[in-house]
Amino acid sequence: MEKKKLEHLAIVMDGNGRWAKSKGLPRVMGHHAGVKAVERVVRAAKELGIPYISLYAFSTENWNRPKGEVMGLMGLFRYYLRSKLAELCREEVRMRFAGDLAALPPDIREILREAEEKTKDYSGTQFITCINYGGRRELLDAINRLLASPPEGGVTEETLRRELYLPDVPDPDLIIRTSGELRLSNFWLWQSAYSEYYFTNKYWPDFYKEDLEEAIKDYCERERRYGKA
Ligand code: IPE
Ligand code: IPE
Ligand code: MG
Repeated sequence: MEKKKLEHLAIVMDGNGRWAKSKGLPRVMGHHAGVKAVERVVRAAKELGIPYISLYAFSTENWNRPKGEVMGLMGLFRYYLRSKLAELCREEVRMRFAGDLAALPPDIREILREAEEKTKDYSGTQFITCINYGGRRELLDAINRLLASPPEGGVTEETLRRELYLPDVPDPDLIIRTSGELRLSNFWLWQSAYSEYYFTNKYWPDFYKEDLEEAIKDYCERERRYGKA
């Protein structure tokens, strides 16, 4: 594959519900199938040598879904993180989380903390799960912290960035969204200023390594200009 800087790949995993509906299954089955796609794609990112992969798993707006679905999703996070942690450790994937984690159920918070702690020394691919993440909330939290102790000389891009959830993670180079929706839905608002976008009609549970490779190939053929002539 052609070499072009792709440090951070971000994905809006969308279409689990429609995937399930198309098969006459309950929505939660779509989320289960979505988890399998997560495993495939994280492994693929690692094989392709991508340093950071971030996946949008639950937005600050997703609490507005029916209670049963929200509970099903929380159950899936518990199951996934508990059962897969050992495997991810074996594969030396560093797990990190972005979002308003304080608002999550305490036992899930504890599982996230443990996953971060156990994998913190791995230096290969970092797998970032965005959970209870909202770009607006991230920015508001940052602004409020800056207001509480204003930096000398005023707020700059650098001082604001330092207040984001994961200030050391580079901005996403490529953002993929599945399921044919053409929007960001409050994902990486600050960080996506110069990201490239790739949209596919495939539902997330139907997304495979080949689809990822196709997206990366497309990305590699683009010219990123950052406002220059
Ligand atoms: C994405 O699939 C998963 C989450 C947002 C948690 P959806 O659940 O949004 O699936 P659709 O968009 O309804 O098909
Ligand atoms: C975006 O998907 C959030 C996640 C993938 C976690 P949604 O399905 O919630 O987004 P909208 O409602 O279609 O914009
Ligand atoms: Mg959706």
